[in-house]
Amino acid sequence: MNNAHYELQDGIAVIRLENPPVNGLSYELRRGIVDGIKKAEADDNAKAVVIIGSDRAFSGGADITEFNTPKVMAEPTLPTVINVLDSTELPVVAAIGGVCMGGGLELAMGCHFRIAHPQTQVALPEVKLGLLPGAGGTQRLPRLIGIEYAMNLIVSGTQVPAAMFQGTPLFDELVEGDLLESALTFAKKVVEEQRPLKRVRDMKVSHPKPEAFFLWAKTSVGAVAKNYPAPLKCVEAVKASIEKKFDDGIKLERELFAQLIQTPESRALRHAFFADRAAGKISDVASDTPTREINKVGVIGAGTMGSGIAINFLNAGIPVTILEMKQEALDRGVAHIKGVYEGRVKKGKMTQESAEKKMGLLSTTLSYDDFKDMDLVIEAVFEDMGVKQKVFETLDATCKPGAILASNTSTLDLDKIASFTKRPEDVIGLHFFSPANVMKLLEVVRGEKTSKEVLATSMKLAKKIKKTGVVSGVCDGFIGNRMVGKYQTEALLMIEEGASPQQIDKAIEKFGFVMGPIRMADLAGGDIGWAIRKRHYEEKPDTRRLYVADRLCEMGRFGQKTGAGFYKYEPGNRKPLHDPEVDRVIEEVRKEQGITPRKISDQEIVERCVFALVNEGARILEEGIAQRASDIDIIYLTGYGFPVFRGGPMLYADEVGLINVERALQKYRKQTGNPFWEPAPLLAKLAAEGKTFN
Ligand code: 3HC
Ligand code: NAI
Repeated sequence: MNNAHYELQDGIAVIRLENPPVNGLSYELRRGIVDGIKKAEADDNAKAVVIIGSDRAFSGGADITEFNTPKVMAEPTLPTVINVLDSTELPVVAAIGGVCMGGGLELAMGCHFRIAHPQTQVALPEVKLGLLPGAGGTQRLPRLIGIEYAMNLIVSGTQVPAAMFQGTPLFDELVEGDLLESALTFAKKVVEEQRPLKRVRDMKVSHPKPEAFFLWAKTSVGAVAKNYPAPLKCVEAVKASIEKKFDDGIKLERELFAQLIQTPESRALRHAFFADRAAGKISDVASDTPTREINKVGVIGAGTMGSGIAINFLNAGIPVTILEMKQEALDRGVAHIKGVYEGRVKKGKMTQESAEKKMGLLSTTLSYDDFKDMDLVIEAVFEDMGVKQKVFETLDATCKPGAILASNTSTLDLDKIASFTKRPEDVIGLHFFSPANVMKLLEVVRGEKTSKEVLATSMKLAKKIKKTGVVSGVCDGFIGNRMVGKYQTEALLMIEEGASPQQIDKAIEKFGFVMGPIRMADLAGGDIGWAIRKRHYEEKPDTRRLYVADRLCEMGRFGQKTGAGFYKYEPGNRKPLHDPEVDRVIEEVRKEQGITPRKISDQEIVERCVFALVNEGARILEEGIAQRASDIDIIYLTGYGFPVFRGGPMLYADEVGLINVERALQKYRKQTGNPFWEPAPLLAKLAAEGKTFN
């Protein structure tokens, strides 16, 4: 298949890139471009060439799906294609609209002329995939827009409109209206005027103080790049554009690209890119499933979650009404929302006018009568089945037919909640994460009877409020919290066995988590985990008790909110401080339980915490609670601070090798006697078959 369409129009050869949705530069498309150029060269009537994409994209860059396959190296590779464009004697004009990114921009820079719609989104975003531009971008962009600006764009991957480059030779013309027509006119002018071909490789690049600039770039980029090798390689390649001859610079760029594409960091970032997009797809829900209009949202409960949830909809321009039991609770919630907007205005992130507009979309009520008309109601009341029952029975009696009734419960059985209504097909879980106006993740909990329409509407809505929606089936804790429960349990058990809270947090933060499990427990509030544990002790009396954690809660040490938990906190300060009182409690528990503390290595801490996530994740996959391993990864990347450069727990396990993971699980099964460490059957099966989760 050839993805480039060739046509001669009025003496100009038009090569149209046709690889929807974004004209990724696949092997077929690359071949099509080269064939098109050859055809034009062989055609005496073709005086120039125009390369054009679709309205949506000139090109989104190299086809990332090919990166793990031999196709990426199949000739013509992208550098070869660009060489062909660069060296042809026919003038080549790139006509650029939509998005023009990565290899797409490199392709355009390999042409002799470029015209673009001013609103075209331009970027070299390779660094976001753990790469650098590998088809001449690091050598050509500095020649077109200057070293400093090019460095900035390449190291950050930032997307900017073409209009920002007005006056630079990156674009010869910025045009409105019909792009092909403008390109044909431009190409004819080039031919008529016999304009010399402008090859970017021949342009000069300079900087008044190159040494000082590159030293500064290396230092400042190195300081923030931390676990990511790509940004510093970008600096190195851009430096070559000024220090080396063009061809030598290209050679170095190519070598660095080849190194980076093999790094686990790049594999992780590429995985995250596709995982994010895959999460939006539900295997048994067609992409054209009808969805409902959501123009009015009701939120019940103006506490921590309710007020945060409301902000998401206000930000998206959707009116929200919050319902509470008492006026004081409403006032508190509204004051919180107002405070968030005031903070944004103060930081210059929002205008006063815009903040007022958002607040204007907010109303409050103490009566369900005001919920008759709502398209969606989200309940965020106390985590208590009795309270939820009353709320859902009332909603069922009040809301119009077709309204979606959602619960933000984090642990309760959604199917049971749905059964309190006569319309379980309209009930869904919308599990936001705290702070709900900040965290990207939204677990969309699909009840046994939730309709496909309600599910499709909720996923669409997630996008509208700029969340990453991931579908979860119903189980205790859903995907994220069920797994994190096992992770935290291991951390707490290791404290009893001999590790200190500080050692655990340090080891996990060194692994790359934003925050260690003990600090996270203090931040979330010890009382929440304690309530869940107490329920588990009651429901399953043989549940292993977490003595230290329980003892601290019995002492009223719930973490940051009470000024003390596993750490102590100065008033108004979130910095965790070592507390000898906690050491005393730990020692006391060890004595009571007859535990002789032992030295626990950082490796054991990381393995027991992270492999606990993996083993539970495998069970969740097997039970069909998660649709795919990458959904679990995206939940951990967007909701739990899992290091992005490791791609999520399931990809991490794949990278370690499932056979090695299984061996470690067996080791901990033997060491601890805890049946949890029995490898999940799916994990054992994949390990035996030499396969991976992703
Ligand atoms: N290769 C393969 N598939 C791609 C792709 C690419 N470069 N870019 C996007 N896609 C796919 C997506 O996976 C998605 O597929 P799906 O419909 O099956 O889920 C589809 O195209 C649409 O993508 P989005 O949902 O992201 O669409 P948007 O319109 O929101 O965004 C975009 C379009 C801005 C192009 C965005 O997709 C994007 O940022 N893509 C990545 C761009 C990029 O990183 N390019 C550099 C690639 S590396 C490179 O060029 C190396 C070179 O230097 C040698
Ligand atoms: P919260 O205690 O801060 O707020 C609950 C609010 O609901 C209170 O303002 C209360 O007055 C109100 N309320 C209680 N019963 C009501 C009723 N019958 N009618 C109207 N209002 C009522 O609790 P929070 O933390 O906001 O939690 C709410 C829900 O969100 C719970 O189901 C919880 O499990 C879930 N959740 C909590 C997260 C968190 O980190 N706090 C994270 C994700 C979900």
